[in-house]
Amino acid sequence: MAKLPVIQYPHPVLAAKAEPVTVFDDDLRRLAADMAETMYDAPGVGLAANQVGVLKRMVVIDVTEEKTGLTVFVNPEIIEKSDTLIDHEEGCLSLKGLYEHVKRPDHVRVRAQDLDGKTFELDCEGLLAICVQHETDHLDGIVFIDHLSMLKKQRAATKLRKLRREEKEREKERAHRMD
Ligand code: NI
Repeated sequence: MAKLPVIQYPHPVLAAKAEPVTVFDDDLRRLAADMAETMYDAPGVGLAANQVGVLKRMVVIDVTEEKTGLTVFVNPEIIEKSDTLIDHEEGCLSLKGLYEHVKRPDHVRVRAQDLDGKTFELDCEGLLAICVQHETDHLDGIVFIDHLSMLKKQRAATKLRKLRREEKEREKERAHRMD
């Protein structure tokens, strides 16, 4: 297993639509294992293949605190959504440091395949429902700030640029102190 670099917004791969998975082989299993390792290391609760630069419809999710609930969703599809919305402050490993409130259905039913190509369906609520929608969005080239109003999205993008600038300055300072 290997930790993979997480691609940062606004890289075009994050705005691209991923292709359906048709081959369930060792390469796919390795990618899933690497994505899981990358997610746990971050740490995060979900990761889509786009975020590691692979345009395949696969996401890994684990919303448990004990990190014992890893689920791999291949070709996930949301087949039912509740009318009730939940407001949750979301973050994303590709928009590091940025957190914004997003409203989404609080309950979804997802149909997906596992790593052997076997189809399963899962009812998701709460954090799992949010995460499944957030990650499935990635496969369609959508990031969470795309759900905000134009004005709020612009503000969020400005905030993100500022965060990155500050991080670069801190890195520079650290490098200076090492001299
Ligand atoms: Ni994300």
